[in-house]
Amino acid sequence: MEDLVGLCKRRGFVFQNSELYNGNSGFYDFGPLGSELKSNIKSQFRSQFIHARSDVVSLDSSIISNPKVWESSGHVGGFSDPMSDCKESKKRFRSDQLFWGPVKDEKGDIVCWVCVHEDDTEIMKKEAKKMAKKIIKNEKINVEGRTTIDISTFKDLTFATESDIQNIPSPESLKPTLTMPKDFNLMFSTSVGASSTTPAYLRPETAQGIFVNFKNVMGSSRMKIPFGIAQIGKAFRNEITPRNFVFRSREFEQCEVEYFIPPGDCWKEYHKEWLDFSKNFLLSLGVRDDLMDWDVHSGDGLAHYARACTDVTFRFPFGESELMGIAARGDYDLKAHEEGSGKSLEYYDEETKERYIPHVIEPSLGVDRVFLAIMCSAYAEDEVSGEKRTFLKFKPSVAPVKASILPLLKNKPELVEVAQKLYDELKMRWNVDFDTSGAIGRRYRRADEIGTPFCITVDFDTIEKEGKTVTVRFRDSCEQIRMPIDEVMGFLGKEIDGY
Ligand code: GAP
Repeated sequence: MEDLVGLCKRRGFVFQNSELYNGNSGFYDFGPLGSELKSNIKSQFRSQFIHARSDVVSLDSSIISNPKVWESSGHVGGFSDPMSDCKESKKRFRSDQLFWGPVKDEKGDIVCWVCVHEDDTEIMKKEAKKMAKKIIKNEKINVEGRTTIDISTFKDLTFATESDIQNIPSPESLKPTLTMPKDFNLMFSTSVGASSTTPAYLRPETAQGIFVNFKNVMGSSRMKIPFGIAQIGKAFRNEITPRNFVFRSREFEQCEVEYFIPPGDCWKEYHKEWLDFSKNFLLSLGVRDDLMDWDVHSGDGLAHYARACTDVTFRFPFGESELMGIAARGDYDLKAHEEGSGKSLEYYDEETKERYIPHVIEPSLGVDRVFLAIMCSAYAEDEVSGEKRTFLKFKPSVAPVKASILPLLKNKPELVEVAQKLYDELKMRWNVDFDTSGAIGRRYRRADEIGTPFCITVDFDTIEKEGKTVTVRFRDSCEQIRMPIDEVMGFLGKEIDGY
């Protein structure tokens, strides 16, 4: 992860927001390459989820809505995470991410309690042992024989009672200085206009903008059920503990579809269809299959509005976590807005002559998380001519720079001129690079490190021999082929766009 974060900063993918002022926790800025990569993810979503389907249309709704939208959707009342403070260090924790349990001696008697951050079991075990050692030393506790810790019995802090909390040490102070968990609403509030008295909110998901426009879109674009409305846009959540780089941030982008279907059992089929469609989309972006998995939510793990939800998970360097979710939300949202607004959101099926509130399947992905999964999937190291090489194996369709055009020597105007002409043609269609500085091998390395799939070199054969060929070098294999310069556009078109 450290290597990846270092590369992201060094090569202009991601910067800490407000770095000049020592940062701004949970906010990130995407640099020249990062913004290109993000934009490619979004345009792939637009082309695969919207343009390639005749049953999905797009929407771009406002970030700030009438606050009643968020009351009806349940976000004002219930969009919260449990939070605990450490009274001594003033550190703030998400209570469901702290796990506590006893340390026992050889006789099975409790020696002390420990409390660690949620992580891989092995890391939690190691942290718990470290903490126990420190507490035993600090408190001068007499221990008989070896101590044991059974992480599998640990519970998260939301299960602690008032009396438990008197024993549970804060991971910061190592003393029982944690407060009881209390709900913290994750919506950022703001005020609209000069004399507003009620708060407005920055949207925490793009989905509600879709639900409240259901009738507008259906009426204006004459869509018939089943059909979907997709939206790409910013979402804001005042996360208690933003962490793991862009994985959990306070400002991020979502790509969501609300796919409206008839009530009844058919949702199972549609849900399965969207699971497969979503997974194929992630594969097409270059997210590694062997690092992805499914997490089927059930019982307590289901959000209050969902009748089913399956996450696609990804094995990030910091552990396996949710990449995107595909939820069957029933008719919860449209019903809630019908009640809240007092206006009918029923659909009239002209064929069956039935009226009903449509049900919904919702594929929802975070662009920033997919960005991170693509970076992790693409990161590679090998050895070329006895030297270590770091490169990014991006699919051409998502690569920030599609090709680097290189005149072999920068002091030969006849080479530079031909290369410049090729660059001028290609840049009208793609983000390509023109690089003249340094030896050709160094230029290849620079292109590899930012994941440019093709390097096209104009050399003396191009200008002196018949056929006017250039070399095309492939990033992953370093293999080179020659092709006529006027075939380059067609070749790149097939490799990048598939036509
Ligand atoms: N409309 C449903 C919804 O918003 P969610 O599971 O809360 O569901 C959907 O969010 C996706 O948005 C997640 O799978 C994740 O990819 C992304 N996401 C959620 N919170 C995020 C955060 N704090 N930072 C980055 N991405 C986030």
